[in-house]
Amino acid sequence: MTSSSPLAQHHDRILILDFGSQVTQLIARRVRESGVYCEIWPFNDAPLEKIKGFSPKGIILSGGPRSVTEEGSPRAPDGLFDMGLPIFGICYGQQTMTLQLGGKVSGSDHKEFGRAFVDVLDDTAITRGVWEKGAHEQVWMSHGDRVEALPEGFRIIGRSDGAPYAFIADENRRLYGVQFHPEVVHTPHGAQLLRNFTHGVCGCSGDWSMAAFRAEAIEKIRAQVGGGKVICGLSGGVDSSVTAVLLHEAIGDQLTCIYVDTGLMRAGESEQVVELFKNHYNIPLIHENAAGLFLGKLAGVSDPEQKRKIIGGTFIDVFDDCAQRVGGADFLAQGTLYPDVIESVSFTGGPSATIKSHHNVGGLPARMDLKLVEPLRELFKDEVRALGMELGMHEDFVKRHPFPGPGLAIRVPDEITKDKLEILRKADTVYLEEIRAAGLYDAIWQAFAVLLPVRTVGVMGDDRTYDHVCALRAVTSTDGMTADYYPFPHEFLGRVATRIINEVRGINRVTYDITSKPPGTIEWE
Ligand code: XMP
Repeated sequence: MTSSSPLAQHHDRILILDFGSQVTQLIARRVRESGVYCEIWPFNDAPLEKIKGFSPKGIILSGGPRSVTEEGSPRAPDGLFDMGLPIFGICYGQQTMTLQLGGKVSGSDHKEFGRAFVDVLDDTAITRGVWEKGAHEQVWMSHGDRVEALPEGFRIIGRSDGAPYAFIADENRRLYGVQFHPEVVHTPHGAQLLRNFTHGVCGCSGDWSMAAFRAEAIEKIRAQVGGGKVICGLSGGVDSSVTAVLLHEAIGDQLTCIYVDTGLMRAGESEQVVELFKNHYNIPLIHENAAGLFLGKLAGVSDPEQKRKIIGGTFIDVFDDCAQRVGGADFLAQGTLYPDVIESVSFTGGPSATIKSHHNVGGLPARMDLKLVEPLRELFKDEVRALGMELGMHEDFVKRHPFPGPGLAIRVPDEITKDKLEILRKADTVYLEEIRAAGLYDAIWQAFAVLLPVRTVGVMGDDRTYDHVCALRAVTSTDGMTADYYPFPHEFLGRVATRIINEVRGINRVTYDITSKPPGTIEWE
């Protein structure tokens, strides 16, 4: 997002200029965790006038994949360093700051990737109370270039084997630079260093909290919607649920929720959604049972992209129908989050390849001439969960694993049938029961079963069986973009496999998927 949010206007704020690092979002998370509102803007969409309009208390320059020694490589906007604002350059940010202020940066034979150590040679406002002079501190590095000569006014605070100027400061101008990445957890005191910058150097008070967000978001929704009617598609997931509860608090019965039961939900899911929204929150809810329609259209279809397109298109038709039935609406509410909104800087050029066409209600606003209400646009997933708790939603609910829009359809590779879905639901239920019983649910980003089209021979009692294979998947992740398989103990996997084979008719073999993302994806289709 490149324009400042009205929500931020009452809060101290920090601006992060993005040079394309893979971990820029982590800087924003660390800053927000310390109670300070911040936004990420691409470095090339930040003219000084716009920055002045945003009135940040300080600026952080992110890392980036390029080398400042290359011609045409990115630079901070002209005049940025003369604005009198505190600036903290990280990795590429440090290098471009050094170069733009008259220092020297060059490629180095001594590249550092991963864990490194910084010798702390001096004190500065950012290290105060965190790193002692004389200490040897662990950090996480990822650089080829390094600063070779400092601009005037700077001094060295720390050095590492590969970076003689690993930490530099010009206290008079409140300019700081580090070669390492304080935003990643592998720099153990990194969050505190960033906090010293935002609170200590920039003077931010830490007034960004979910209670403040809630109150202001409600005001903002009321101002936007006025007396209009809003519809909100519920999926049972956290984002759309928190959106609905927040909207209901803001505009009461001007909101109608629509829950489309596609027949592709997990066991008990539809009942839970209806119970929560209709009975607990008293939110006007249309519960549309469209299972027959969806399964009919999916009959005989085995190509994953075709499945997704059919589900997306049918969903929009059904949703549109339901909306017309309540007399139409002026606004569509969506649970869009900040990571979906940030325009990352692309150095490769061109749009990235479509790996999967994600299902959402994207086509609706234009077709129905609806304006969008997206009250979570400024938030990260963990902040949405915190907002859910602030709104009084149950912890078990807000901590639910993500569930894809196309539902179980993409967990039944090949042709989908009602019977296969039923088998899958049972296996999935057993698997999640065991994960919860082992106290592992919150340590996992997402866990689910997949029903494979492959059938294998087995023996149960004295009989031969010829049934499906079930694959189990569980991953850790911070944003779903990359993921690692979860390292379950073998006895846990053995217990789940035994239960599934004993309790679920139609499955006689269980495997565990140990593929990370990349090269795999989280879902199988
Ligand atoms: P993949 O499989 O692409 O999934 O690694 C990344 C995350 O996105 C979820 N996912 C979807 N969510 N509509 C959604 O709302 C979709 O079409 C869709 N496809 C995948 C997936 O469950 C994981 O959390």
